[in-house]
Amino acid sequence: GADRAAHVRTLIRDVPDYPSPGILFRDITPLLADATALSDVVAGFAAVAAGLGRIDLVAGMEARGFLFGAPLATTLGVGFLPLRKAGKLPPPVERAEYALEYGTAAMELRSGTLPAGARVLLVDDVLATGGTAAAAADLVRRGGGEVAGLAFLLELEALHGRKRLEGHEVTTLLRVGLPGEDDPA
Ligand code: PRP
Ligand code: MG
Repeated sequence: GADRAAHVRTLIRDVPDYPSPGILFRDITPLLADATALSDVVAGFAAVAAGLGRIDLVAGMEARGFLFGAPLATTLGVGFLPLRKAGKLPPPVERAEYALEYGTAAMELRSGTLPAGARVLLVDDVLATGGTAAAAADLVRRGGGEVAGLAFLLELEALHGRKRLEGHEVTTLLRVGLPGEDDPA
């Protein structure tokens, strides 16, 4: 209910000027440490999955996407696909470069691990600029899969990440408007 959603929200803490000046970091470690909030978030993602048709695999973006993606996969009874930061998977890999809210990075998918035509649900903690998610969706497609949808715990609406994901089914459990200003909806 609304109380449980409010409880989850209070356990995401704003940290100003981290990891660099002007960035408002959303710290989910208090949420992860809370049994009720953690299981509520995974259940929230499972409810999203239920509206997306057949899901063959859950994919998570390293690192925080792993924290929700793997428990979601076991909840749904499907496997988990790690999309890893560059240099962590043995070759051959597919690679996608992307710009972060802070810095740049590359993400990789182990080639040949995705069954052709598999419908994949992508999961991450935060949708900010959408660069990470767009790269992840690109990897899934290049790996031979189909993006069934993307689900995020928190959407930072002021950064318009949704625009980068047009054509995809995007669902967010919580949204905030301008930094530090909770969406009245
Ligand atoms: C963070 C967050 C998202 C991404 C969102 O990951 O976990 O994956 O940024 O930003 P974007 O929408 O602008 O791409 P980050 O790579 O900072 O760190 P992590 O390894 O802790 O997940
Ligand atoms: Mg991340």
